[in-house]
Amino acid sequence: MTVMNTQIIRVDAEHPSDSLLLPAAMALRQGQLVAFPTETVYGLGANALDAAAVRAIYDVKGRPGDNPMIVHVTCIADLLPLVQALTPLAEKLFKAFSPGPLTLVMLKSPEVPDVVTAGLDTVAVRIPSHPVARRLIELAGVPVAAPSANRSGRPSPTRAWHVELDLAGRIPFIIEAGNSEFGLESTVVDVTADVPVILRPGTITAAAIREIAGTVLGAGAEMAANDRAPRSPGMKYRHYAPRAKVVIADNPDLTARALQVRQMADNLITDGQRVGVFGCAELLTELPEQAVTVIYGQTPDAAAAGALLFDALRRLDQAKVTVIIAEGLSDRGVGAAYMNRLRKAADTMNKEK
Ligand code: TXA
Ligand code: MG
Repeated sequence: MTVMNTQIIRVDAEHPSDSLLLPAAMALRQGQLVAFPTETVYGLGANALDAAAVRAIYDVKGRPGDNPMIVHVTCIADLLPLVQALTPLAEKLFKAFSPGPLTLVMLKSPEVPDVVTAGLDTVAVRIPSHPVARRLIELAGVPVAAPSANRSGRPSPTRAWHVELDLAGRIPFIIEAGNSEFGLESTVVDVTADVPVILRPGTITAAAIREIAGTVLGAGAEMAANDRAPRSPGMKYRHYAPRAKVVIADNPDLTARALQVRQMADNLITDGQRVGVFGCAELLTELPEQAVTVIYGQTPDAAAAGALLFDALRRLDQAKVTVIIAEGLSDRGVGAAYMNRLRKAADTMNKEK
């Protein structure tokens, strides 16, 4: 891996200046990698039509070669060349939720290099809403393949410093424009059949998709089954792991959960662990003073917890805690996405320790 100088370009999140974005957009177009903010997480972009550029993403991230990437465009017209056809189902879902945190898996056209889709006959496409992502893609003038801009297995980046920590010295540009609004990656939905199948839950919920499509698979109990036998290749890998071990306090009753957190923290501290806690203010009462806390809001709220989760994992790592106690929430609505990421972070499978 060649070490390079990484230029950090700060832009306004709502009205980024073209002159600041242009050098990065041209580099992107010409085959270099650029990390950029989106409304979900920061992405690591490459020209999706340039197989060598996309191959470099796998190297830089340490990403397994069988895990395909999402291609980002700014409008439906620009995705048409990438797919076999825009089916009525895909059109309905894009019209309802794009630009925004929805990714649709569709049959791919020959224009999309195999390295983007890891040899699959489908391609995942997303139309982001973040003004900086949109302007960068427009200026580059090419579709942009972009996984999350973290080293493979680490928490997805929702702040520019997360990207810097993982990728500085490995890529030429990081575009910085504040916090990612949703903080969890897009909802990935397979629309190659008549019934949409959720491959990865996100802030666009199963209920919202059902409302538009009339039906949906892969929610609730089926989602857990999907996690075991993943159709979305990326879902089988260890993900979102901070260096600390993660445990979940998941008593459904808030008062009982607060007691659960307190007891877990007491026991861990007695065992000589350095403890971090992530939860809402009402959960974190009477904790031992040694515990380091990151609070996402006053009361239980999956959207607020999801927006802060990955940042909290990284901040608690920086505070050098050895165990993170994280608040478990109901699997309903956005809770499905939050709990999906949290369970993966807590999974001790394949964990190098
Ligand atoms: O919000 C997001 O989706 C962010 C931002 C940057 O757009 N991107 C992101 O990319 O999370 P990544 O690579 O970390 O996750 C992409 C997911 C993986 O689980 C991958 O396996 C799945 O989408 N995926 C990509 N192409 C697919 C395909 N053709 N069929 C099934 N799953 C696919
Ligand atoms: Mg990722």
